[in-house]
Amino acid sequence: MFKLLRPLLFRLDPETAHGLTIRALEALPARKHPALDPLLETRFAGLAFPSPVGLAAGFDKNAEVWRQMLGFGFGFVEVGTLTPLPQQGNPKPRIFRLAEDAAVINRLGFNNGGLQAALPRLAPNKRLGINVGANKDSADRIADYALGVRTVAPHAAWITLNISSPNTPGLRGLQGDALPELLAAAAEARGAHDTPLFLKVAPDLDDTQVGAICDAALASKLAGLIISNTTLARPATLRSVHASETGGLSGAPLRDPATAILRQFSRRIEGRLPLIGAGGISSAEDAYARIRAGASAVQLYTAMLYEGPGLPTRIAKGLSTLLRRDGFRSVAEAVGTESD
Ligand SMILES: Cc1cc2nc3c(=O)[nH]c(=O)nc-3n(C[C@H](O)[C@H](O)[C@H](O)COP(=O)(O)O)c2cc1C
Repeated sequence: MFKLLRPLLFRLDPETAHGLTIRALEALPARKHPALDPLLETRFAGLAFPSPVGLAAGFDKNAEVWRQMLGFGFGFVEVGTLTPLPQQGNPKPRIFRLAEDAAVINRLGFNNGGLQAALPRLAPNKRLGINVGANKDSADRIADYALGVRTVAPHAAWITLNISSPNTPGLRGLQGDALPELLAAAAEARGAHDTPLFLKVAPDLDDTQVGAICDAALASKLAGLIISNTTLARPATLRSVHASETGGLSGAPLRDPATAILRQFSRRIEGRLPLIGAGGISSAEDAYARIRAGASAVQLYTAMLYEGPGLPTRIAKGLSTLLRRDGFRSVAEAVGTESD
């Protein structure tokens, strides 16, 4: 079905195509999650998912179609980024398809309807996570994260603090000296809830920054790290005419850099916190390699734009074959087992 639809969707501007896709998905009845190999059951940070393959934030920014996405076979779905106030984002066009590179560049800038508008669409679900961010014009960004956490803590299986969008000026600065304060404020904002908190980081970090983030993460009540968001780098291999657009690059060209930065985090964290790998995952082999490089689970977005909604189930099935081939009895057993 997607093979027939893809040429039509790809004739449209990417943001229009995305909007139509969300409206079409909304009209679909939520399907039951396809049965998957029990070996894929994944547990970390007090969470339990039927597959380690999740949908990354940004596809369902306003929490409109997360049930349908679970029905396509994602083990878990992260909605958002939601900010305290609704926000338009940057001027259009702001999403670019780099089809020759199986990639996307976006500079959306946290366009979303705001936390309050999304609340009625949320429902307690053990596989639903909520990604929160700060408004562009906020005078106190840490307070925005705290408000986000306070608002969604009763509704989320986990909450992700997204401080790594490259499209809100200065946001990535929160990965520096202010990080301990942010993590403390976010943990405090949960109140009586013990919702696990994840931090989503950029792939564009040097060794010193990785070390400082790991130290802050381990000293705080963080439950895990998501590695990574889109990159500001532009590999010389890019062929698309859109390669020099401003924004964050995702998809195939991010695969190797995102794996390398995950590996760097994994070496420092030494199993003390779970890591979730994201960036350029488009196959069972990619997911398996990310798990062996240290990820307890993976997320994807861009590859699904190119491969369609059958992708999470295809990856899950292929992953169980790879795990069984190599004698692993669970996903957890394979985490971090690559040899240097
Ligand atoms: C169009 C687009 C919008 C995105 N929006 C968000 C967002 O709102 N919040 C967020 O944390 N990540 C966002 N991301 C980043 C993805 O969640 C993911 O980390 C990144 O794209 C790398 O994975 P991928 O190569 O599989 O897409 C967005 C990515 C794309 C392509």
